[in-house]
Amino acid sequence: MNTLGIESSCDETSVAILTKDEIRANLISSQDFHVEYGGVVPELSSRAHIQIITKLVRDAIKKSKLKLDDINLICASAGPGLIGALMVGFNFGKALAYSRQIPFIPVDHIEGHIFSGFLMNDKPEFPFLSLVVSGGHTLLLIVKNDLEIIKLGSTQDDAAGEAFDKIAKMIGLGYPGGPRIQEYSKKGNPDRFKFPIARLKNKFDFSFSGLKTAVYRFLSQNYSDLQTLSQNELSDISASVQKSIVSALTEKVILATNEHNIKSISLVGGVASNLTLRKSLEEIACKYEKKIVIPDFKLCSDNAAMIAYRGYKLFTNGKTYPMEYSCYPSLRGEMFTKF
Ligand code: KG4
Ligand code: ZN
Repeated sequence: MNTLGIESSCDETSVAILTKDEIRANLISSQDFHVEYGGVVPELSSRAHIQIITKLVRDAIKKSKLKLDDINLICASAGPGLIGALMVGFNFGKALAYSRQIPFIPVDHIEGHIFSGFLMNDKPEFPFLSLVVSGGHTLLLIVKNDLEIIKLGSTQDDAAGEAFDKIAKMIGLGYPGGPRIQEYSKKGNPDRFKFPIARLKNKFDFSFSGLKTAVYRFLSQNYSDLQTLSQNELSDISASVQKSIVSALTEKVILATNEHNIKSISLVGGVASNLTLRKSLEEIACKYEKKIVIPDFKLCSDNAAMIAYRGYKLFTNGKTYPMEYSCYPSLRGEMFTKF
């Protein structure tokens, strides 16, 4: 069983080929030019996907040492994401599957992240607690099996990655914010500034807009001109912000681990690249004697291997989708099972 997966939900075009759950190719082309605009420009993203997708599919097939004839299944990210960007990979995949008369499986991008730990040698064990932290989403979930996902909590405003990106922009570190805040944090004192951690009615929910506002207030009260911020101050602010975001995330993981019967903990999504967050979750898992699975960096950020894997699993679980099925911009509430 050879699966071709396509990912184009934001600023990465990616094509992967899997034989069952083994990765034969996972090519990622990142649109670095968005840096000069301080964030992703949707229309430019769609155009860049169009320019590279055919070449990337060819290159991935070549790298896999297979032929197009050997591909039995095609999967593509269906959403959530930038709709114009999604349409490029989704419709390319659908048309290719149609022309080859092979099945096409639309894959939810967040489900791709959730199950990305299964691409590692050491895999999560069901039921597992999943912390999904990306640029657009922050979710705490219990994954009971391939088809049952229960939502414990989610962000009520900004996502964790969005908070990193917006605060980095505010303090002049530019885009992408997460890696830059992490870099500055290395030399910073995380206890110098106390930024708030939101507590919500549903104890598993998150909120990061208050943190953003607190940093904004702090800057306007103390630095009328951002140019006067020293490298030391930038490092201390970065480390304090990172501490606040990581604490908000890990706090809920501890609560959920205490209350729910889980075997493993999995950290996924772009923010899962954050070294402090990875280390904190490893310590929690060790303390509570749970298995921890955090994918390699390449599998944390957007990639097609996770899309191909999820599509392959849906297909082998008997799922089929009509040709009319289309892509979508926002999170689908119906992907979660009720308690
Ligand atoms: O999952 P992803 O690649 O794309 C989305 O689906 O959103 O996540 C991108 C997010 C960005 O907000 C980026 O700043 C954040 O992941 N990120 C990080 C780090 N690397 C990427 N955040 C904190 N620390 C990092 N090292
Ligand atoms: Zn993502």
